[in-house]
Amino acid sequence: MTNTYNKLNYNRDFLIEKLQENLDDKRFNHCLRVEKKSLELARRFNVDESRATLAGLIHDYCKQMPDAKFIDAIYIYNLDQDLLNYGNGIWHGSVGAEIIREELQVNDEIVLNAIRKHTIADPYMNDIDKILFISDFIEDARDFPEVRAARQLAEESLDKTVAFEIEHTLKYLIDNKKKIYPKMLNSYNKWVIEEN
Ligand SMILES: [Fe+2]
Ligand SMILES: [Fe+2]
Repeated sequence: MTNTYNKLNYNRDFLIEKLQENLDDKRFNHCLRVEKKSLELARRFNVDESRATLAGLIHDYCKQMPDAKFIDAIYIYNLDQDLLNYGNGIWHGSVGAEIIREELQVNDEIVLNAIRKHTIADPYMNDIDKILFISDFIEDARDFPEVRAARQLAEESLDKTVAFEIEHTLKYLIDNKKKIYPKMLNSYNKWVIEEN
């Protein structure tokens, strides 16, 4: 898959090394599976394979970093301080993108935006955003009751799969009394209500 990175000037071996330094095997292998699923979806829907696979590979680079590092980054990069009210589940995407830019030398805003959005969705999602969001949800090792239905939807429509995933995630958050990031509700209104 190395060739797909040439036009974005990335060295996949360097990224792999950095991922392995920062993630345990379980999370690292998840990243490889998301990369693989992203390639599959990019081919199916005729979307830029190099950006889709790069986003898939590195999307969880910050998943196991300490909270203090994210809190520092929120101040250093002057991000919305409301983020301080959330945690790693939100931070590793929206704050993680800044850390990724710094530590992995990935400057492509399209790739970084997909990473920002993968934890919370967004009312405005392009195909790269959608592919990462979906691949993370349906990669080959995912195993939850609705995953087959989600994979089936992903055969035909990115938009329908995004809507399915947002609905599923919101239900999970409500059922488990977990905090909901407000943008998730905007995403619900856009993808589940308006687009369907
Ligand atoms: Fe993630
Ligand atoms: Fe992930």
